[in-house]
Amino acid sequence: MGKTTLAANLAWSAATVSSRRTLLWDLDPSGGAGFLLGIDRAGDKALRIFDDEEKAARAVVPTSYARLSLLPSDESLRELDQRLTRIGKRKRLLKLARALSAEHERIILDCPPVLGEVGAQILRAADVVVVPLPPSPLSLRALDTVTDTVRDGDGRTPVIVPVLSMLDARRSLHRATRDEHPDWPVIPFASVLEQCAVRRQPVGAFARHAPAAQAVNRVWVGVERALADSRNGVAAPARRPARS
Ligand SMILES: Nc1ncnc2c1ncn2[C@@H]1O[C@H](COP(=O)(O)OP(=O)(O)O)[C@@H](O)[C@H]1O
Ligand SMILES: [Mg+2]
Repeated sequence: MGKTTLAANLAWSAATVSSRRTLLWDLDPSGGAGFLLGIDRAGDKALRIFDDEEKAARAVVPTSYARLSLLPSDESLRELDQRLTRIGKRKRLLKLARALSAEHERIILDCPPVLGEVGAQILRAADVVVVPLPPSPLSLRALDTVTDTVRDGDGRTPVIVPVLSMLDARRSLHRATRDEHPDWPVIPFASVLEQCAVRRQPVGAFARHAPAAQAVNRVWVGVERALADSRNGVAAPARRPARS
């Protein structure tokens, strides 16, 4: 939980704090990432961008924020999983991402809710995978799923950045999970982050100094660091978290 909110807010940090030409690529048919940037869905063409790279580049739309663009989703993406499986092009998404990176220094992909073929292709295309985990044993298992999928893939492995999300320090289970993983960045459970969906703005745009906005920026700094490490070839392979 909290994936789309984190993706949209990290994209804002990339564009604004790090001044990167950034693309937020919405791959969830329900279109939450675009919604959070104040962009209303139009059309039924999101699936067609998978036909060729030029269509993908043409589908990119600007947002109200400098250096931040969106590759919008729509309902047609519900068929993407089947389509990619049927055509058997396992690196289709990676190819599109490479083409899009000509214009965008950072591409942030918001995953669909289910880790199917689209999810597998995202993991194959990504340099860094941010995994927001609400602090519970169940969600720590979700991290294992991602780690295993990444390890089973052929080719290079992305760096995995687990993030404790929706952390409520008043709850003892949350505190215990945080203490077990002191090196994981934390996104607090925060009403300003909930407000993003009401105002349809990233938190940095309306509450830049709020602790939650600072927390998002810290996660982004961690992503930049992981990216630099992976490009320098010093990234450790994805590793299972220690369990007690
Ligand atoms: N850190 C947070 N604190 C409070 N509410 C949050 C936080 N992150 C997300 N939410 C809220 O939780 C709900 C689900 O978030 P969303 O980002 O859509 O999750 P996902 O993409 O994983 O389904 C939304 O209503 C969102 O506003
Ligand atoms: Mg989502």
